[in-house]
Amino acid sequence: MAVEVALKMALQYWYSVGNPGKQKVIALRNGYHGDTFGAMAVCDPVTGMHHLFGEMLPRHLFAPAPNCAFDGPCPDSEMVAITDLLSQHHREVAAVIVEPVVQGAGGMRFYSPDYLVKLRALCDAFDVLLIFDEIATGFGRTGKLFALQHAAVEPDILCLGKALTGGYMTLAATLCNQRISRGISDGEAGAFMHGPTFMGNPLACATAIASIELLLSQPWQRQVANLNKALGEGLAPAAELPAVAQVRTLGAIGVIELEEPVDMQTVQPMFVERGVWVRPFGKLVYAMPPYVMGTEDVAALTAAMVDVVAQL
Ligand SMILES: Cc1ncc(COP(=O)(O)O)c(C=O)c1O
Repeated sequence: MAVEVALKMALQYWYSVGNPGKQKVIALRNGYHGDTFGAMAVCDPVTGMHHLFGEMLPRHLFAPAPNCAFDGPCPDSEMVAITDLLSQHHREVAAVIVEPVVQGAGGMRFYSPDYLVKLRALCDAFDVLLIFDEIATGFGRTGKLFALQHAAVEPDILCLGKALTGGYMTLAATLCNQRISRGISDGEAGAFMHGPTFMGNPLACATAIASIELLLSQPWQRQVANLNKALGEGLAPAAELPAVAQVRTLGAIGVIELEEPVDMQTVQPMFVERGVWVRPFGKLVYAMPPYVMGTEDVAALTAAMVDVVAQL
């Protein structure tokens, strides 16, 4: 829902400041932003199966997924396609939306924070808003409280969810800078036009506050660093296996990418038999454990992942 709101916010902003022609969004291939119509329309059109939903789905513009490693620079060649899209379409483009640093459900791909620095500069140059979807990465998952901190780049609109409540209650949040809030408040409607019944639900908000206080009162950076080390060490043997294309970790995310997609019917019972719950998708066998998971449990989890992949 945070993404749905972010898209509405971007469009209402441009309408309010007298630029109603800006109604398209540029999103990235391999991106995932949710399953409602607005959010789905900015997911990867192939893995998001846009063809199933026909005319109901707005048509947006897609740039290639970043292909620069997390720990390296982002060469200018990476920005050519998105620069072309922006220069051709900026008059009709309201915003660019990306998952900063980690493309999650669209492939668990990690990319260079430098890409975000260059993207911010491009958005500024073409007068297009920048939306970061930190629904999966927010609240420490990548080792920084927010993934955008790897790049020290600020978006105009930020989407949060999932770990906002530690997963205990459904709640999402869409944050924006003053340019957006002023633009909308000073515009024709005078307020942002979104108000579902349970917006700002007090119980969910209290849960979020408690969860954030708990997170920040814990040594979460150390916990995530320890998890990173344990995931890296535990999953490393998988890199030698014939079925495996790559093993990678970032913060508290561990991924084994296979050469071929897994058959869920076969694989999931194999994990259950080993006492762990892992939900692979496509070619990815991955884990995003809770920060409180102890060393022995991570060892059991990674051993099961390596063991199951070895049987494939
Ligand atoms: C980056 C990202 N954005 C949006 C969503 C959608 O969130 P929800 O399933 O809570 O609607 C997800 C869910 O996996 C996500 O990973």
